[in-house]
Formats: sequence, structure tokens, C-alpha cells
Amino acid sequence: MTSEEIRSKFLEYFKSRGHAIVPSSSLVPTDPSVLLTTAGMQQFKPYFTGELDPDKDFSSLSTASIQKCVRTDDIDEVGDSTHLTFFEMLGNFSFGGYFKKEAIAFAHEFITKELDLPISYVTIFEGSHGVPKDTESKEIWKSLGVTDIREEGIGDVFWGPTGTSGPCGPTTEIYCRNAEGVDVEIWNIVFNQFFFEGSREELISGKKPEALKPLDTPGIDTGAGFERLVTIKQGVVSPYETDIFRETFAKIEEFSQGIKPQVARIFADHFRASVFLIADGVRPSNKEAGYIVRRLIRRMLAHKVTHDIHGDIFTALFPIISQKFGMYYPEVKDPEILHVLQEESAKFELAVVTGIGELKRLSATSHQLSASQAFMISSTYGLNFELMREIAPEATRGVTQEAFEAEFKQHQEISRAGMEKKFGGHGLLLDTGELKAKDEEELKIVTRLHTATHLMQAALRKVLGDEVRQAGSDITAERTRFDFQFGRKVTADELAKVEGLVNEVVSQDLPMQYQEMSKQEAVQTGALHFFIDRYPETVKVYYAGHSLDSAFSKEFCGGPHVTHTGEIGKFRIKKESSVGTGVRRIKAVVE
Ligand code: SER
Repeated sequence: MTSEEIRSKFLEYFKSRGHAIVPSSSLVPTDPSVLLTTAGMQQFKPYFTGELDPDKDFSSLSTASIQKCVRTDDIDEVGDSTHLTFFEMLGNFSFGGYFKKEAIAFAHEFITKELDLPISYVTIFEGSHGVPKDTESKEIWKSLGVTDIREEGIGDVFWGPTGTSGPCGPTTEIYCRNAEGVDVEIWNIVFNQFFFEGSREELISGKKPEALKPLDTPGIDTGAGFERLVTIKQGVVSPYETDIFRETFAKIEEFSQGIKPQVARIFADHFRASVFLIADGVRPSNKEAGYIVRRLIRRMLAHKVTHDIHGDIFTALFPIISQKFGMYYPEVKDPEILHVLQEESAKFELAVVTGIGELKRLSATSHQLSASQAFMISSTYGLNFELMREIAPEATRGVTQEAFEAEFKQHQEISRAGMEKKFGGHGLLLDTGELKAKDEEELKIVTRLHTATHLMQAALRKVLGDEVRQAGSDITAERTRFDFQFGRKVTADELAKVEGLVNEVVSQDLPMQYQEMSKQEAVQTGALHFFIDRYPETVKVYYAGHSLDSAFSKEFCGGPHVTHTGEIGKFRIKKESSVGTGVRRIKAVVE
């Protein structure tokens, strides 16, 4: 069975059982509390919590999707036969529709009948943290003839929440045997019965029992790793041996005869992951998602130098990925992706040259480098340790692999602490530069203020003319502060009109939505934006209205926004003042 057949079988199976098929969401989530999309359920979070109505949006209480995911926790393990950073997740979901009995029966039938794979064993939740043992699932499995049912704890069979809070619940996992006789988890059914107001670490610690609350309508969230399923079905031991990677491997092999399998796998995984991330608008940089792409690309390039891989391997691999996945994810066909990869390669080459110079300079003065100096050069210039040893064997002689790795680990901990601060720790929960919020409560207010700010800019242009252009904005839980170009004081009467217009749009409860498109198309829609070259090639245009054409406001923006303008509440302008020649400032609040 080809991977394409498995994909279609999955979608057909769930479609014919009443599921609406929903396309994968972007790898860059709209949820600001997570950096990347790591699971199929993420795009459905508001349906589990009851914020959005599945029946209205999908004409069904259940959906199925094949979701692009990136997980970077084990990025340094990639190169072995199992780890991947980019993968696809098959999922079927129910938001207050069917529950345990049907979800387990679907999984059982799909795996044993459609894929014709025997189940080795399943797991169920043993009970803890105030949640009882899942005897119901146990009985359902037994009734289906599964006898090996293992009970496990909260660390293994209780999923979620992702980010700073969210739906969560006990799970039941399904294991099948691979070609080496090892049992591998291939399917995970989450019973989203709870909402936890806190992180997963806090949940597991048991220190906030009051933060675990039952959801009004329990839901189902299934995740099945596509590559693992294909590996088992095709009778191989590694996802890298499946047809998913076949052409990629053949091409890598052409570039370097007898290349080490470990290096070939790094290329195969990292290249695919980079293409998908770039396709979703991520650009190599030194922070957050941009840093992940930079690291993936530079790791490949460092191996290219160390292993003497000549020729333009990126240009050769790109059409293979576009062809293999473009049918399902048309965004990976964009030729801009290859330009981004090539630009990053050129920067890397420059960094390598500068890094070698620095290495030579340091080794001339201090003869031998310390582990921390070696690590500093490695991280600044993107040279891996192997490469450094080749370039400067004398200078690096005193640094052992262990000492270098110890430096690396220490650095990882520091950067992880930084991430946690931003994404779930005790610092700011959200800081986009423009919007700042320290917790979920504040996040809700700044989101309302953010949409209100869009509406206000549109209203200002309607009342004062197109001369009005945003010059900056700063949104906190207290207020929005909006600076704009305009040549004179705005009168009280004009301010009242602006306020009135915004409140009228609030009372119309217009949907606030976005469309992703190329920068060029976005400009043509008339959407407002800052300096055009600040944006990536693909942008989101947020608009308030039923269609982009008829929208009251449209702007280039990364979100977050309310889903309907009614959520903003009463909008009030507090103050108008001057902040320099031709620039005015308005402070406003929502009540
Ligand atoms: N959310 C669960 C997972 O990612 C099931 O989809 O494993």
C-alpha cells in the first residue's frame, strides 16, 4: 500500500462516517501561546471549548484532517532511524458528537480491517489527579476482542494541555508491531473531558487541582502519526525507508555516493521540514520559529561541508518535495521557498568564512581554545564541532566532544528558559512588540483592543481621509495607544464620529477573519500595511466583514483577533494628542 493510498483510505473512511474533511492548518498557529503547530487538535481548540460552533462551520459535529506538524524537542536525535521534526498527523475529532465507544470502534476497524494490521496491545488511564480509572474504555476494548490492555499513568496516557492552558483528558493508545518485532505506538485517542487552566507541567505536579474543570461537552481528539503508520504497513523499520522518502534518498545518494545513513536522514528530514516551514511564511532568523528554520538549514550545510557533498543539493531536492507533497499542500510548490533556502546558504557561507577567520585569530592568540570559546564560535557562525575540528585541528585539540556538548546543553537550558518565559512561564504570555499580555485574562482584553484598533484606523480614514496612516501602536491590557500620520488636531466632533463608527461595527457583530495570500495579492486587495518590505512573501490579511471586498477594515496582520466584532464591547476614545510634527496619538479602551 503506498503512502498516498493510506492517506486517501483514512480520509474516505472518516468521510463516509459523517466527518467533515478539514484541510491542515498552517504550521504557524494563530494561538499565540504556542510557537508551532505540533498536533492536529490545535486548530480545533475553540470547538472543544465551545467558543466556536462546529455545526455552523463544518455542518457536522465531527471532522477529520491530515495535519502538518513540527516538533523540535528531539531535534538533536534526528539522524537515527526513527526521529523526524516534520511529520503529518492523521486525526478524527468529535466536538460533543460521538464519544468513547465510537472513537475506539473507528480506530479498531480502520487499523485491523482497512489497513489489515494486527493490534499488539492498547493502554488505558489508570486513574489519578482526581480523574477515575478509564474502565469504560477497557470494557469497550474487551468487547472488540482486544485482550492485552495495559494501565498507565498521567505521564503517558493523559494528553494536554498544549501551551498555557487548554483541553485535556485521558487517552487510550494503540500499539502495533514493526518489522523488527518492536511494538510502536501508532494511534492515540484523547478523551477531551477537561479544561486545564495552566501548563502541562502544572497539571502533572498536582499543585493546582482546582484548575482542572470538566468541559461542557466532552470531545474526541485522535492523532495517528502518518509516517509511523506507513512504516508499519510497508513492513520496514524506519519511516526513512518508506515511499515517503524514497525519491529524496535516491537524490541525496546521487550527490554523495556512500553517504552515511545518519547524514542522509538529517538531509531528508531537515530539508522537508525547512520547505514546509518556509512555505508557511517562516523566514530564517535568530529567534523563535525563524531560529528553528535557520538551525535546520545550517545543520544541513555544515554536514555538506564536513562530508564533502558538492553541488547544489537544495535545488535538486526542492522539486522532489514539491512533487511528492504539492498535491496535498500546494504551498510547497512556491518557487520563493528555494530562493529563501539559497539566500540562507549564501549567508551561511559568509558566516563560515568569517567563522574560520575568527577561529584562526583566536587560535593564534590563545593557541588552544576552551570549550566555551569553541561553543561561542560554533553558535555564532553556525559551524558544527566536527567542521571546526577539521578546519582548525590544532586549535580545537584541547576541547573534547563531551566538554563541547556540556557547553551546548547549558546553552540549551538557558534558551529553553527564555522560551518558557515567553510561552508559558511567568513572564509575558504574549509579546508581539505591538501587543503585550501577561496571562490569559489580559490576552483576552488585548485581543479585543487589537481588533478595535483595526476598526479605529478604518474609521479614522473614513472620517479624516486617506492621509491617515498608522505610525505605530502599543496595546496593553489597560488601553490601545495608536499613533498615526495626520496634519492637525482631530476635533471632538470628529473623534465622536470615529467612536460612533467603531461602535456601530461592534453592534453589527461582523466576523473577523483572515485570508492568507501572496504579498502582491494582498496589496491589491487594498489592505493597509506598514513598509511593504517588512513582510514575508505570504501574508495574512485580517478583515472585519462577510467578505474581503465588502470589509469595513482590512489590514496585513499576524493576529490575534476576536472572531466577531461583537466581542469587543463598548469602544471609547480617552484622549487625542500630538506626538511630533504630523503625528497624532489616540488612547482608547474597551469596556
Ligand atoms: N493531541 C493528541 C496527540 O497529539 C492526539 O491527537 O497525540
